[in-house]
Amino acid sequence: MTARGEAIVLIGFMGAGKSSVGRALARRTGLPLFDTDQLVSERLGLPITDIFAQRGEEAFRACETEALAGIPAQPAIVVTGGGIVLRPENVAAMQRLGTIVHLAADEETLFERAMRRATRPLLKTSDPRATFAELLRVRAPFYASAADVAVDTTRLRHDQVATAIVEAVANLQRHVG
Ligand code: S3P
Repeated sequence: MTARGEAIVLIGFMGAGKSSVGRALARRTGLPLFDTDQLVSERLGLPITDIFAQRGEEAFRACETEALAGIPAQPAIVVTGGGIVLRPENVAAMQRLGTIVHLAADEETLFERAMRRATRPLLKTSDPRATFAELLRVRAPFYASAADVAVDTTRLRHDQVATAIVEAVANLQRHVG
């Protein structure tokens, strides 16, 4: 098995709360925060929606993989985009960084949260609800297989999710170490 680093890596579908929970975790732990969407946006000098519109999804994915690979192995909070789990090399990179935590929630909750921001290019279709359901169906097994631990965020506030993550990671380390 790959040696694991000391980062906490958040994965999950759009609307899982990865960015907000990541910020809460960084505040609480004092660890630096890396966010792959933000890194991609900085590298390409464009917001994510414009990257998809002007350069296409493949260009976004290539830059996302590079951005993830460039995150230093150190204690940190790492927030990822919902599609990061699709490439096996990304999963291997996340495993090297640390413990992978899947932020899960029921589908309606995820959809309602995801639609609060109009910044999700993959949902700009004629039927966002159907697109959402199909993407989630395809992605669910990828999150499950990549994750070391899952937290159901459906009924939790961000600070409660952060607490659940800190506890889950400590528990895992007790069992492993
Ligand atoms: C994507 C999710 C987005 C962003 C991009 C692609 C996806 O991040 O990386 O729009 O494929 O699910 P969030 O999960 O933060 O919305």
